[in-house]
Amino acid sequence: MEIKSICCIGAGYVGGPTMSVIAQKNQNIKVTVVDLNAQRISAWNDTDLNNLPIYEPGLDEVVNEARGRNLFFSNEVDKAIDEAQMIFISVNTPTKTYGTGKGMAADLKYVELCARQIAKVAKSDKIVVEKSTLPVKTAEAIQNILDNTGNGVNFEILSNPEFLAEGTAMRDLAVPDRVLIGGDSSTDKGKKAIQALVDIYASWVPHKNILTTNVWSSELSKLTANAFLAQRVSSINSLSELCEATGADIQEVAKAIGMDSRIGPKFLQASVGFGGSCFQKDILNLVYISKTLGLNDVADYWHQVILMNNHQRNRFAKNIIKTLYSTVNGKTISFLGWAFKKDTNDTRESAAIYVADLLLDEKATIKVFDPKVTAAQMQLDLNYLNTRTKLENANYLKTESDPYVALNGAHAIAVLTEWNEFQSYDWKYIYKNMQKPAFIFDGRNILDREVLESIGFTYKGIGYL
Ligand code: NAD
Ligand code: UGA
Repeated sequence: MEIKSICCIGAGYVGGPTMSVIAQKNQNIKVTVVDLNAQRISAWNDTDLNNLPIYEPGLDEVVNEARGRNLFFSNEVDKAIDEAQMIFISVNTPTKTYGTGKGMAADLKYVELCARQIAKVAKSDKIVVEKSTLPVKTAEAIQNILDNTGNGVNFEILSNPEFLAEGTAMRDLAVPDRVLIGGDSSTDKGKKAIQALVDIYASWVPHKNILTTNVWSSELSKLTANAFLAQRVSSINSLSELCEATGADIQEVAKAIGMDSRIGPKFLQASVGFGGSCFQKDILNLVYISKTLGLNDVADYWHQVILMNNHQRNRFAKNIIKTLYSTVNGKTISFLGWAFKKDTNDTRESAAIYVADLLLDEKATIKVFDPKVTAAQMQLDLNYLNTRTKLENANYLKTESDPYVALNGAHAIAVLTEWNEFQSYDWKYIYKNMQKPAFIFDGRNILDREVLESIGFTYKGIGYL
């Protein structure tokens, strides 16, 4: 079956970039990305490409090329579902904040709403693709809803999890390590659906990188891929504390172990802790699924990855307080970076939020500079934690649009995101305008210790505190 028309429900960090690339590489397919969020859709349609709702290097060029040709962003969800042969569900699946599984399970209400809407609207056969990250066996629930509330048409469900990382999404999509497609190859219709999706990717991804599996393997592989990646970060972060206690050098240790080809060099960068919308959510989901199945030892094993991450964030904040003579009351700590990693404006679960929260508890004043995150977003992030009133948050956490203003007069600087530009600042000038002694807590180990110490800074990196 040749696909001519695709709909993607959810115009977020995954739906937007993924569909832009599918449209770029398949000019014969009409791709319509829909969302309930009208503001988000109008930002996707903004003629000024600087106003796209997400910042992702290279995304603007692809949108510029495909938008209006075969790529469309729209609020007309029903119309797009009706017209499409293939529908991607790319909505958010956050951790549940209520009821059974609160704080652990994935909240599938948005996915279920999509399934019900597809069932209601579809008047012809559809291939429904799970692009969101979902607990293993979700396809069964989607199939049930579609079959029991639909208009008698046939629905084939595929799982096609996304592996892009923010900040490098366009490269990850252009040359993916693998594309994973889970489907039911035991029926003719299932086989055809799998092939239809393989053909879409095959227009730019080599066949050897397109992996087809059964649906459950595909769903579970996505959760566990994130768990493995996060586990590496927690592993190296646990060693950073050991380095601090022994004088071993964390970057030397990372290099030495990463040169073993069985271990590999990637994802061994010690940090203030991993953030992002997915690592924590997906591991909690894995823990929850394991517990539900009575696999308590498996659950405890993976849960430790999260506990180590919480510990890393906390001890970073506590170390700032301890070093500043055990009081930060009335002192100014300036943050470089608020996003959960460089080259994105996404702040979900960023370590910066938790470090700020602990420092604000101790009555510090915080001034933040981030090249891509707005002041409104920072306040939203803090208010979401519900630790203080909105007014207190607004009074004690200030956002500056000029880094030199943010750093002026500070008692200490904390680097929370590894934005490249921080390395080329005029550190002599910054030192002159800070309170003395001037401290830098480099939560990403990106600044040059020797240079900063020669200027007069007291420098403390992760693993070297
Ligand atoms: P997001 O919050 O940025 O985007 C989701 C969008 O779906 C929102 O704009 C929301 O308004 C929309 N939406 C929700 N319900 C809807 C409905 N019923 N109809 C229409 N629109 C609806 O989320 P995201 O970061 O793009 O993540 C989406 C999924 O992809 C999640 O399951 C996530 O785990 C997974 N994932 C994310 C990443 C990433 O880097 N962010 C990478 C791989 C996988
Ligand atoms: C991660 C995965 O890398 C993607 O494959 C996956 O698709 C995605 O989650 C998802 O499912 O959402 P992402 O969270 O965007 O991507 O970014 P990563 O590069 O994985 O970084 C996650 C966090 O770990 C960041 O806070 C980063 O700074 C931190 N990190 C990463 C480290 O502290 N050290 C490292 O060595 C690597």
